[in-house]
Amino acid sequence: MPDTHTAHTDTGTLIRMLDAAETMPDAVALRARSYQLLWLPPGATVVDVGCGTGRAVAELAQQGARAIGLDLDPDMLAAARSRFPGIDVRAADAADLPLGDGQAHGYRADKVYHILPEPPAALAEARRVLAPGGRIVLLGQDWDTMVIDSDQPDLTRRIVHARADTVPHPRIARAYRNLLLDAGFHEVEVEVHTAIFTEATTVPLIAGHAEAARRTGAISDEQAAAWVDEQTRRAAAGRLMVAIPMFLAAATR
Ligand SMILES: C[S@@+](CC[C@H](N)C(=O)[O-])C[C@H]1O[C@@H](n2cnc3c(N)ncnc32)[C@H](O)[C@@H]1O
Repeated sequence: MPDTHTAHTDTGTLIRMLDAAETMPDAVALRARSYQLLWLPPGATVVDVGCGTGRAVAELAQQGARAIGLDLDPDMLAAARSRFPGIDVRAADAADLPLGDGQAHGYRADKVYHILPEPPAALAEARRVLAPGGRIVLLGQDWDTMVIDSDQPDLTRRIVHARADTVPHPRIARAYRNLLLDAGFHEVEVEVHTAIFTEATTVPLIAGHAEAARRTGAISDEQAAAWVDEQTRRAAAGRLMVAIPMFLAAATR
């Protein structure tokens, strides 16, 4: 989904962007698929790392798992607790999880690895807390391959790439498989599910991309305004077309 936590995105803005995306049918189906790939026996311990506002933690708990949400941001944890009272969420860094060796049967991280300073360190930590036979599922978008129909394709490419470059690891999703193999996981499988956005509610999200590109100096003020204008007109005419391939990688410890 078109969101991230970068130096330019405060928690309130990020929560609004996540809220806009997470109830869309594609997002609901993708979460459901991620739970399936965890192969959780009833009552199994599963950690959702970078849990944000806690929806996946609540959904996994509802399915009978002992779900623990972990996140660095206290404001996210506060939002999670107020939205889903009773869920187990705790402050923790992905590189230093508050679990003993082999304590978890499942590990999930959704739209998180692109912002971690050292993804391999987080994967090593995932491997430590998972029991042998435990499952890991990573989800995220490849920021370089966001598809946006436009009459200004060169400008669109510049916007997408400039926005991608504001993320620490914009192409990590295409590397999930190799990172998991390098970290010693096996039975690694990758699926790509493309989310399609045609509704006007998507305009603020892609306008944010143009704004990020403008801020980096990759495009001018006038180009940003003209591009957002075109996308707004498309949305008003029912002609918006945005597609985001979401990578989902699963593996066994
Ligand atoms: C884009 S949000 C995704 C939230 C949630 N997984 C979802 O799909 O809605 C990324 C989350 O990762 C958290 N995060 C960032 N760096 C982290 C780290 N080093 N350890 C744990 N959580 C982290 C952020 O606070 C934020 O809540």
